[in-house]
Amino acid sequence: KRIAILISGRGSNMGAIIAACMDPNFPGEVKAVLSNRPDAKGLETARRYDIAAHAVDQKDFASREAHERAVLDVLGAVEPDVICLAGYMRLLTPDFVRRFEGRMINIHPSLLPLFPGLDTHARAIAAGMRVHGCTVHYVTERMDEGPIIAQAAIAIEPGDTAETLADRLLRAEHRLYPHALKMMLTGDVRMVNGQAAYRRRA
Ligand code: GRF
Repeated sequence: KRIAILISGRGSNMGAIIAACMDPNFPGEVKAVLSNRPDAKGLETARRYDIAAHAVDQKDFASREAHERAVLDVLGAVEPDVICLAGYMRLLTPDFVRRFEGRMINIHPSLLPLFPGLDTHARAIAAGMRVHGCTVHYVTERMDEGPIIAQAAIAIEPGDTAETLADRLLRAEHRLYPHALKMMLTGDVRMVNGQAAYRRRA
């Protein structure tokens, strides 16, 4: 299956997906990486792996819709089966989301539905949580909602700061994202009537 990854920055989750796809048994290949910011570090990483890396700078477009049309032009040529959002920091229009419904997934650094939005690590600490985690979910029209595919939890240790917690969680993200993507690519999970449906194992 053909995978496209949308990023805005560092692209470490993108890197984890690319690395997973190097295993010949992985059921997908990364065909393109696209960033809404031309200075995203992840673009360089993708190019080092010989993956087509496109910058579609949002500053070059007058509106969200115009920018998305340019993104769609790139994706139209890539013909991805699946789109992975990996630190893509721009809201997508309902139109865009609907077009890829059931085929677009995102990773969010919290145990959703807790802590949608930004600053999740600091908010989890401030709330006195003893666990934190990450979620891979289908993208639907409402930000950070959408049916959950898989989650991983880690402990919040005394003395953790937003930074130490984020670093530790990132390692869990790098394991979770390829795992959830694989489930989706193999059909072990599908989106049915707005819910994640899992294949029963014999
Ligand atoms: C990750 O924490 C991810 O969960 C969130 O944005 C961050 C992106 O990091 N959506 P990276 O660009 O994958 O390194």
